Amino acid sequence: MADFVPRDKKHAVVYQIYIRSFCDSNGDGIGDLPGITSKLDYLAKLGIDYLWITPFYPSPMRDNGYDISDYTAVDPTYGTMDDFDELVAEAKKRHIGIMLDMVLCHTSRDHPWFQKAIAGDKEYQQYYFLKDGCNSKGPGDPGEPPTNWKAAFGGSAWEWEPHIGKWYLHLHDVSQPDLNWDNSKIRKEVENVVLFWKKRGVAGFRFDVINFVSKPAKFVDDTEGAGRPLFADGPHIHEYLQELVSTTGIDGMLTVGEMASTTLDNCIKYSNPDNHELAETFSFHHLKVDYANGDKWALKEADIAKLRGILYTWQRGMQEGGGWNALFWDNHDQPRAVTRFGGRAGEGEPNSDWEHVGKMLATTSFFLEGTPYIYEGDELGMTNAHYAKIDQYNDVESLNFYQILLKKGETEDEALHVLSERSRDNGRTPMQWSDGHAAGFTTGKPWLASPANYTSINAEAEVDKPGSIFEYYRNLVHLRHELEVLATGKVTCYEPGDEAPKVLLFERQIGDIRVVVTTSFDQKPCTVDASKLNVGELEPLVFNYKEAPQIQGDGTIALKPYEACAWITKGALNK
Ligand code: NOJ
Ligand code: CA
Repeated sequence: MADFVPRDKKHAVVYQIYIRSFCDSNGDGIGDLPGITSKLDYLAKLGIDYLWITPFYPSPMRDNGYDISDYTAVDPTYGTMDDFDELVAEAKKRHIGIMLDMVLCHTSRDHPWFQKAIAGDKEYQQYYFLKDGCNSKGPGDPGEPPTNWKAAFGGSAWEWEPHIGKWYLHLHDVSQPDLNWDNSKIRKEVENVVLFWKKRGVAGFRFDVINFVSKPAKFVDDTEGAGRPLFADGPHIHEYLQELVSTTGIDGMLTVGEMASTTLDNCIKYSNPDNHELAETFSFHHLKVDYANGDKWALKEADIAKLRGILYTWQRGMQEGGGWNALFWDNHDQPRAVTRFGGRAGEGEPNSDWEHVGKMLATTSFFLEGTPYIYEGDELGMTNAHYAKIDQYNDVESLNFYQILLKKGETEDEALHVLSERSRDNGRTPMQWSDGHAAGFTTGKPWLASPANYTSINAEAEVDKPGSIFEYYRNLVHLRHELEVLATGKVTCYEPGDEAPKVLLFERQIGDIRVVVTTSFDQKPCTVDASKLNVGELEPLVFNYKEAPQIQGDGTIALKPYEACAWITKGALNK
């Protein structure tokens, strides 16, 4: 078969698969590569262009594969290299490109490089950050950690390694030592990893916390306490990315960087094609609007005005600077957006809010400028897990923070409530294929339990059902492919007026074609001031209630709870 060329980033839609939870082919309760291959027809029906698959490389699975012990093999839990090659070939037949997750900021402790380092091999010790403690009384005495930096999953970012009498840096879990990219040998190693997979026919890459790889020249205490500003978007980050991209020849492929605690200016640099770094970037500021005082583990109602401000700033800034956004609400690190922005919508039986919220979120991400990402289950309206007991959780971060919350004085019930809203396991429950055993995900015992609503929220119930969330997504994917205005049209963001405090209002435009979009995050009705936009001269394109909202004579639009609508220049669909 002649090689197909997947769509470019402006016209493409990416679907993310958390392999552990997508489809289990052999009944061991864990999703795997053959499971993904068996569902390619489902994905082709949805119409997506790329599949980003989370790590399936050998790993002790302390962080479910983001702790890699061998970069160029397949963990037997997930299948074999032949299974991988088959997946790539079968996906190509359906014009789907595979994107792989490159976790190059850290390895697992079990990686042979780290094992050699702690066995005393001086060359491999240069692969990591190994430092003496502060206030040590001499060899063998740890003293205190070299800096006050905190690890993302709780506790100090430093761990004492008694074998060699040094502290090692781990910005995530203690089992994930950070690689030293200032050592050119590491940059050569990661180049080889990328080339290995590129040669096997992949179409793109997602780079895990890639903006943390360039550490500051001097390791000093962070006066804010967390250390993040010191190691995010570090001093050589652009240089290292440019080097990796040029030595591996991945410029022009669909590459996306996960940019934690980043800035707009840096993301413009990462994703402006003139810089030859990445195609696009994930940023996370819009998903922190429900953190009280910036703390993920302190609950607060989502501040939609703030969300709007952040999305508008990034839309305007990326457009002006020639950068490109990856657009998403969910991934394997986030609670489900349907629950997060829709209250208890979808708990127990699906209700009308649940369906409206799912479609409203999709409308927002598919009509903004950038590449939309669908996370497995978004297209069904999958919800949070609603677990009631701590032993139902698996995620290392959730288990660590549960203990931290208890130590802070919260009761078990309070801590469980926080987890039920914030745990990453909310986004990791098995894909809901049917109302059968284990939601049709496995014939065995699933590694993580499904929420009870799988009996009604599932693919079997939705794929061919007129008006389902699945059908809505399928239409949006099609429009992304067909309507140039959605791919390359200019974006202009508007304030929706005082009567619509929880609403987004924006326009896309190319030549004489305009699309006006409004999406409500409000559970109450509201009225949007679109008087400057002449929406009356357009025609409805997509909407999430039975009928499109009416435009009043004064140009205002009355929106129902969680209503979304896009209007387009009359006749544009046939052009
Ligand atoms: C981001 C990944 O998405 C997350 O799942 C992982 O735990 C951390 N990076 C560390 O690799
Ligand atoms: Ca399996």
